[in-house]
Amino acid sequence: MVDIKITPIEESRISQVDFTSLVFGKEFSDYMFVCAYREGRWQQPEIKPYAPISLMPSASVFHYGQAVFEGMKAYKDEAGRVFLFRPWENYRRLNRSCERLAMPAFPEEWFDAGLKQLLGLDKEWIKQGVGNSLYIRPFMIATSAGVKASAATEYLFVIITSPVQSYYDGDVKVKIADYYSRAANGGFGYAKAAGNYAGQFFPTAEAAKEGYQQVMWTDDATHEFLEESGTMNLYFRIADKLITCPVSERILDGVTRKSILELAPRLGIETEVRKVRVQELIKASENGTLQEAFGCGTAAVVSPISGFGYKGKDYAIHRPKELYANKIKETILDIQYNRGEDPFGWREEVK
Ligand code: COI
Repeated sequence: MVDIKITPIEESRISQVDFTSLVFGKEFSDYMFVCAYREGRWQQPEIKPYAPISLMPSASVFHYGQAVFEGMKAYKDEAGRVFLFRPWENYRRLNRSCERLAMPAFPEEWFDAGLKQLLGLDKEWIKQGVGNSLYIRPFMIATSAGVKASAATEYLFVIITSPVQSYYDGDVKVKIADYYSRAANGGFGYAKAAGNYAGQFFPTAEAAKEGYQQVMWTDDATHEFLEESGTMNLYFRIADKLITCPVSERILDGVTRKSILELAPRLGIETEVRKVRVQELIKASENGTLQEAFGCGTAAVVSPISGFGYKGKDYAIHRPKELYANKIKETILDIQYNRGEDPFGWREEVK
């Protein structure tokens, strides 16, 4: 068991926070978990008051972008018990991202123990009620001082947490990318690397000028195949079948995406993992078989897409009254908030 040094807060900031009108990711809880890597090993981890981190201006992360992160949530049930959802998936994925960015792996057991201890200290920040949760943002950055363009030798692994409410930005209209790419063959699209997100902001802002809230990403080589939407994995319901494209070196192996694949058959929903062409989507829109499209991820669970644009033309999605997206979202929330059975053993209580 890892020994974590704890520095207590002087006074909680919780009374200054209005939990009824939270902006996603703006408020942060009292504590953070911090662990430094130097001389080839992770040092003793600490939990201490949430506060600024001091780095040299030459710190590697500012210049070469060695930065990866994760997104998770902690949920509280009616009895006040706290749960995580498939946390080991995130521990493992962080390290897959680290490997690709030439960063050191963070021991999964330390991650688990550190997170659970952190949540124990900040549990008042997790509010009851479906939709309320504590968004968990683990991240690792390169901290070595010096601008030599090579992998750093010093790193910081940090976990901060932010109370959030139900994430719903409304249904989104998306623009299918026909020029910009989110990721490339041989690149690091599958990693939750900061740069994968930075690269989206400009194309997304351009799409916003045309009235679209997100970009639906296509493969970089041909722009013929649909891959992700915004910061989320992607599902389509075509002729009543729920389709998602296979994960690849360009696509994030999303925890929500894979959970939906396992869960959907229990809800009587047929699934298929295969590539979907832009032209197939257009055809399905035109012949009325495109019934749903949605993004999925930790923050929103599912984010319905109302329509899409491609090369200057808008296309409709013919949504029936009963949406797979709603059914799936409710089932996932039931598991996360300990409201329903958990046939897969995805819920993990934080004791
Ligand atoms: C998620 O939904 O899991 C995300 O990664 C969204 C985050 C970038 C805010």
